[in-house]
Amino acid sequence: MKDDSQATTSIWMATANTPSQSRLKESIRTEVCIIGAGIAGLTTAYLLAKEGRSVVVLDDGLIGGGMTGRTTAHLTNAYDDRYVEIEKVHGAEAARLTAESHTAAINKISEIVSAEKINCDFEWLEGFLFAIKPDDVELLNDELAAAHRAGLVDVEKVARAPIETFDTGVALRFPRQAQFHPLEYLNGLARAVILEGGRTFGETHATKIEGGSEARVETTDGPVVTCEAVVVATNTPVNDRVAIHTKQAPYVTYVIGVRVPKDSVTRALYWDTGDPYHYVRLQNEDGYDVLIVGGEDHKTGQANDGQERFGRLEQWTRERFPQMLEVLYRWSGQVMEPADGLAFIGRNPLDDDNVYIATGDSGQGMTHGTIAGMLLTDLIQRRENPWEDLYSPSRIRLKALPEYASENINVAGQYTDYVTAGDIKSESELGPGQGAIMREGVSKIAVHRDRAGNVHKLSAVCPHLGCVVSWNSTEQTWDCPCHGSRFSAEGRVYSGPANTGLSQVED
Ligand SMILES: Cc1cc2nc3c(=O)[nH]c(=O)nc-3n(C[C@H](O)[C@H](O)[C@H](O)COP(=O)(O)OP(=O)(O)OC[C@H]3O[C@@H](n4cnc5c(N)ncnc54)[C@H](O)[C@@H]3O)c2cc1C
Ligand code: FES
Repeated sequence: MKDDSQATTSIWMATANTPSQSRLKESIRTEVCIIGAGIAGLTTAYLLAKEGRSVVVLDDGLIGGGMTGRTTAHLTNAYDDRYVEIEKVHGAEAARLTAESHTAAINKISEIVSAEKINCDFEWLEGFLFAIKPDDVELLNDELAAAHRAGLVDVEKVARAPIETFDTGVALRFPRQAQFHPLEYLNGLARAVILEGGRTFGETHATKIEGGSEARVETTDGPVVTCEAVVVATNTPVNDRVAIHTKQAPYVTYVIGVRVPKDSVTRALYWDTGDPYHYVRLQNEDGYDVLIVGGEDHKTGQANDGQERFGRLEQWTRERFPQMLEVLYRWSGQVMEPADGLAFIGRNPLDDDNVYIATGDSGQGMTHGTIAGMLLTDLIQRRENPWEDLYSPSRIRLKALPEYASENINVAGQYTDYVTAGDIKSESELGPGQGAIMREGVSKIAVHRDRAGNVHKLSAVCPHLGCVVSWNSTEQTWDCPCHGSRFSAEGRVYSGPANTGLSQVED
């Protein structure tokens, strides 16, 4: 499988056998229309279909062609944004519900894998969070106490993580974490949805989403899905202009997959306390293991040095795992960081009450996406769910995580790009595969020279709220630094909140 917009290929894309889906060719009616065939959309479709609801899933690419195909698929209740922070911002009960929901999500995935006999290398493992500097040991102590208060009483402090080739120093051990092959899992979910009578369509872009007594989803070439409820599981909502996008920030994160001798690294999940942090796991291949190492995050559209970041990941890995052989995979993807550390799952704010969203996953979209499936199924089935308020997209919090204020200021700064000069004066400055912003009169133009030497010119103004996009040479995409919209080199929208492409500019 190759996704159609980004230039790199993840280990999952290289090794999964994802069938293509036919496009929606005529208007249809269903009970629930789900937009997005990633883990959030397909889990919701699966759970609703299991309860006998008729579901339709639309995706404008392949199954898992979004971030679920680019994840590293640690399934974990060790919390990225830390229980100690969740407790400070949301209170002790919220931290307990957070731990409960992520634990339930891992269990739900395990249950689905068994029930549907999905061959996706699902494996229970321990997870280890280790300190990168002596000062961080205090952070581990605080997190251990907070995890215990949140109900994860089996988490314990150990002298080091079980990596023979380097001494991590003190670490927290989280039992009953897990990992899987995310695309094989999605393929299994999609098969199960179809067996339950659901319908899935690919290459079908949802252009307009309307709730109300007769909800409607319009698609590019005209067919309309009419339904009782709509779930927008597009990773970041394409049907919400402002409310959610000021409450989360997009980050690009980088991953390498390196060949290591079989069984030369203890099978477990690993994270360090860096900011950005490194995340590590293994994947079995015939005759060797692939050690998967991620990190080097930066705000989307605000750096264009992916090759250097891959180089730093490689150096970090080589220093700690000297048995490492060649680099087999290099890829990147985007995560949405919520301001207050919790995902947004539930009714779309300021919308009809039968339009639902799931977003703000942080680095925990496998569990957040599964929580979305469970929570949205309960909301649609009019059942109470203990996590409804915790994840409510309309929640008002008086506090945010410490980095959020600076992130918002950072977005405001991106609008000044309108008045600055372009990066280049003429397209002749661009080599094959390069892109840059050029000023033409009062307009900012996104100019790209493809590998065959042809020049493509697009408006550099993001159709979401008008920031100026930046070239991402690693993925050959135009990325918006404000709220994370991403576009192919030809201007096609690849990821929201924008739902239309960059306009073509005539010479
Ligand atoms: C490098 C990396 C490592 C990560 N590691 C982890 C990890 O170890 N553990 C973890 O839990 N999480 C991790 N994450 C986060 C996790 O992968 C994501 O949060 C999760 O995959 C998001 O799933 P989703 O279903 O919400 O979105 P996606 O998988 O992005 O699916 C959204 C789908 O919507 C479709 N779509 C968008 N707009 C439209 C439209 N208008 N019409 C039709 N279809 C549309 C897209 O084509 C896409 O297929 C990682 C992410 C990255 C990038
Ligand atoms: S994503 Fe909001 S302005 Fe581009």
